[in-house]
Amino acid sequence: MIAKPKGTYDILPNESPKWAKLEDTIRKICKLFNYKEIRTPIFESSEVFHRDQNDTSDMVTKETYDFKDRSDRGITLRPEGTAGVARAFVENKLYVENPVSKLFYMGPMFRYERPQKGRNRQFNQFGVEALGSDSPLIDVEVISLGATLIRALGLKDVTVKINSLGDEESRTAYKNVLIEHFSKYKNDLCSDCLNRLEKNPLRILDCKVDRDKDFFKSAPKINQYLNDYSKNRFKDVLEGLDLIGLKYVIDDNLVRGLDYYSHTVFELEVNVPEFGAQNVIGAGGRYDNLISDLGGPKTPGVGMAFGVERLLLATDLNGKKLAKPDEIHAYIIALGDKASKEALRLNNVLRIGGLSTDMDYLNGSLKSQFKKADKNNAKFTLILGDNELENGVINIKNNETDEQETIKLIDVYTYIITKINALGCSKK
Ligand code: HAM
Repeated sequence: MIAKPKGTYDILPNESPKWAKLEDTIRKICKLFNYKEIRTPIFESSEVFHRDQNDTSDMVTKETYDFKDRSDRGITLRPEGTAGVARAFVENKLYVENPVSKLFYMGPMFRYERPQKGRNRQFNQFGVEALGSDSPLIDVEVISLGATLIRALGLKDVTVKINSLGDEESRTAYKNVLIEHFSKYKNDLCSDCLNRLEKNPLRILDCKVDRDKDFFKSAPKINQYLNDYSKNRFKDVLEGLDLIGLKYVIDDNLVRGLDYYSHTVFELEVNVPEFGAQNVIGAGGRYDNLISDLGGPKTPGVGMAFGVERLLLATDLNGKKLAKPDEIHAYIIALGDKASKEALRLNNVLRIGGLSTDMDYLNGSLKSQFKKADKNNAKFTLILGDNELENGVINIKNNETDEQETIKLIDVYTYIITKINALGCSKK
């Protein structure tokens, strides 16, 4: 037996209805907010992710799946959606069509991380990116879209954590005081943080190893170093959130693990004990240099991404059922060769008429075929033997009421449709 690669998993048929339901909910919400779908490749040229400007993030330095293709091109499986969307935005000159592009995407991402509950090597993200506006109000819109999804899923105990990393000038001022501060503790810093001290001291604040040390807690906070423009911009974002009644917590250690952010950064955390360490279900922020770093015109952007597995896990832990198991309208039990052929014909007629139906292809006994009808959650079970066939009739059992009747074969479709309408169910 060949096992699946570590950090991957199969979504089996009994789980796919809840994935489909979540995807459906996401699409509806994106429509409400007028975000349009974009689908970009799962692999990109390595330079899309490995840029000079972002060589301190763990995701980029340690977690990407990089390989050479047969023509020796550097290829990377996408670890996130934002950079690929930015590449597509530049390459397809989307900025010519619309001054602001509001985009969303769903699909698999790949990171070589240590797998654990809520952390996989292949995982799915739903993300949105709004490109072209630097208004603080669009930061609010993105966060509010995330909150709307959380609400639609009925998730409780979600905290929105927010911070501002300010503009370049503010970050430079802050980086200098951080270097000064952490340089005093060089001997106590973990090896990653020593490296970050040189390259991007802000990322030290994101360190899971040094987080609880005293010199970490006494580090200067970014809000003291924001210039007036950055301070006012952050204030506008918070006022916007207040205006729409969205609660948040300011977390001045929140810097996020990716290097492209400026100004607003945020994370949505579920506070369910069973969730463990991977309790950030969605996160994002503003990035004002990514598009120009990828060769496009200077274009501001803001976005966020949810981990779809984490959203589903949180929904399960909240005891919410996203979707019922799949049902079919009818299962046809056929006894004997002739009856099986008639069942094939009848299935075809019912399916063309928009009903979901199935039959047994293993010549099973009456009992085993009844079991299959049950397993498939059939609303009606139809039973056809030689006798019925000769008389042009079929037995039909309503599995919700257990009523059984014999009806004419030519009436089957009308019969089922009439009953379904009477039950208030719609055709699938
Ligand atoms: P991120 O924080 O790296 O941000 O990932 C966003 C979300 O993806 C996380 O909050 C988490 O729910 C999920 N996630 C990340 N890694 C894994 C994993 N190994 N297994 C399962 N779920 C995972 C980004 O990716 C940015 N592109 C977000 C963004 C969009 N910023 C601006 N626009």
